[in-house]
Amino acid sequence: MRQLSGRVAFVTGGASGIGLGIVEALLERGVKVMVADLREDHLADVRQRFGNRADIATVAVDVIDRTQMASAAQYTLETFGRCDILVNNAGVGVNPSVDAVTFEDWDWVLSVNLGGVINGIMAFLPILLRAGNGHIVSTASMAGLLPTAENYIYAASKYAVRGLSDSLRLTLAHRGIGVSVLYPGLTQSRMLQSGENRQAQFATTSCKEAPAGGPVEPPKGAGMEARQVGEAVVAGIINNQGYILSHSEFRDELAEHFEEILAASPPPQEIDTGRMMLESARRRQTAEAQEAVEALTLRA
Ligand SMILES: NC(=O)c1ccc[n+]([C@@H]2O[C@H](COP(=O)([O-])OP(=O)(O)OC[C@H]3O[C@@H](n4cnc5c(N)ncnc54)[C@H](O)[C@@H]3O)[C@@H](O)[C@H]2O)c1
Repeated sequence: MRQLSGRVAFVTGGASGIGLGIVEALLERGVKVMVADLREDHLADVRQRFGNRADIATVAVDVIDRTQMASAAQYTLETFGRCDILVNNAGVGVNPSVDAVTFEDWDWVLSVNLGGVINGIMAFLPILLRAGNGHIVSTASMAGLLPTAENYIYAASKYAVRGLSDSLRLTLAHRGIGVSVLYPGLTQSRMLQSGENRQAQFATTSCKEAPAGGPVEPPKGAGMEARQVGEAVVAGIINNQGYILSHSEFRDELAEHFEEILAASPPPQEIDTGRMMLESARRRQTAEAQEAVEALTLRA
């Protein structure tokens, strides 16, 4: 989407951290933004920060609630008259030990991180399809590209966002809609307090106080500034990038990981006609979809 000025974006989890960085970067390019968030206090901070500018509005929404998401989509159209960009960014994390993990740990993280993305797509895709134009960005994580220990629920949610987005990117390009995924590393945000955002139905857990981070607790204020991640997202929308990687420190590990996957591929085999037929048809389909992606990338 080469031209951003005059567009309208809906950003979930837009009232804090990475979402807020994305909101700021979009506003800077002349995009009007509907900031959607679960937390009224975070939304109140946003309203105070931006005063009564006409190019930003807020809406309280829980991304797991399909009715609320549908109403928020309608409210966006009523407020700004259109919606061109959907940013599915709201996310939460928890790292329970395998000895004490509960179904509610799984349900919470998958409902928000994956279910929230699905609900965003279901609420906004009809609007983008009608316009024959638009862009969808979803926030995954480097934990959606690289395996990490003690992070299996979060990783499941973020790998899933990658899978659904990679396929949607190939599916939607010829309908004029770009699809990107953001894979950030450590970024300044309230992520370690995400336990505060746990809905009552998912309350059963062994780790209410546990941080959702990695094997160490980084010093306060560590991480990339959210605005820098927001700028990477804006560039990713403009250039129709499938993969938006904001952090450079993972390059070698990514190479090692994909080498490991390649090394697991078996040596050449006898392949029956049916297998070959399916495979060549799939390759043709992907090549055609890639052409549509390239055409969309060049479109004004
Ligand atoms: N901060 C990092 O280091 C990091 C790294 C990789 C990926 N991420 C991802 O970035 C995204 C943004 O997280 P962040 O780090 O900015 O955290 P954050 O907690 O600062 O922001 C998340 C926002 O989402 C909102 N939210 C939480 N649950 C919600 C729900 N059910 N419905 C609507 N809004 C909800 C919160 O109120 C908050 O304002 C998440 O998807 C997270 O998984 C963060």
